[in-house]
Amino acid sequence: MSSTSRRLFWLKALFHLIGLIPIVYLVLKVLSDNAGGDPVQYIIHFTGTGALNALAATLLISPIAKKFKLGILLQTRRLVGLYVFSYASLHVFAFFSLDLLFAWSLFFEEVLKRPYILVGATAYILLSALAITSFKSVRRTMGKRWQRLHNSIYLIAVLVPVHFYWSVKSEIIEPSLYLIFFTALLGIRLNKIKSWTPTVLKYFSAFSSKGRGKSDP
Ligand code: HEM
Repeated sequence: MSSTSRRLFWLKALFHLIGLIPIVYLVLKVLSDNAGGDPVQYIIHFTGTGALNALAATLLISPIAKKFKLGILLQTRRLVGLYVFSYASLHVFAFFSLDLLFAWSLFFEEVLKRPYILVGATAYILLSALAITSFKSVRRTMGKRWQRLHNSIYLIAVLVPVHFYWSVKSEIIEPSLYLIFFTALLGIRLNKIKSWTPTVLKYFSAFSSKGRGKSDP
């Protein structure tokens, strides 16, 4: 094993530890009856915040690697990204199983009735697409389309803090701080995001002129 692969191995082991310890903590809290008066709400909040923090970590990797010339960090992006997906899956599953008791109709009703849940669900669908296509073989098959799809991480970085902000009833300081933090993370990438704008606008105008064409007599 070369020294770089050894360092990468330990770095990944550390990230696994950081990702798994909170889950063990949550299980122990719930099993020991220490998850507050409403354990279901506690689990939903805990896993949601876990996903949000992991998302922040994913977006921090590139700027930190660039600033401190730590190229090795870039090789941990997939791992951290998969933790975002895992925490988000636990969060959605906790809501669906413990809160809605597996009632599909109620789930779709909630998605349509509460805009913040629709925003969360949109982010979750995008996250699932990124997780499914995160394998090397899929990346190779998808070619240029892979990068285009994976750029939607920036849309997810907008949707999730909005979902959080919208979900709270009174305490807005924490979600506001997250909104500011994610705005700053996206701000760092402004040039990159700006460079896609013409492509996105091109797609939109092509799409809308197609729609107009259909309705025109
Ligand atoms: C189908 C998708 C989703 C559903 C149904 C859903 C549902 C919920 C619900 C019911 C709450 C609690 C609102 C309350 O306080 O009553 C919540 C809060 C939250 N969700 Fe989601 N969510 C979804 C997707 C996501 C995703 C993808 C993320 C992150 C990657 C996320 C992160 C959060 C966060 C950070 C909170 C606030 C937690 C807190 O109060 O401390 N959610 N969500």
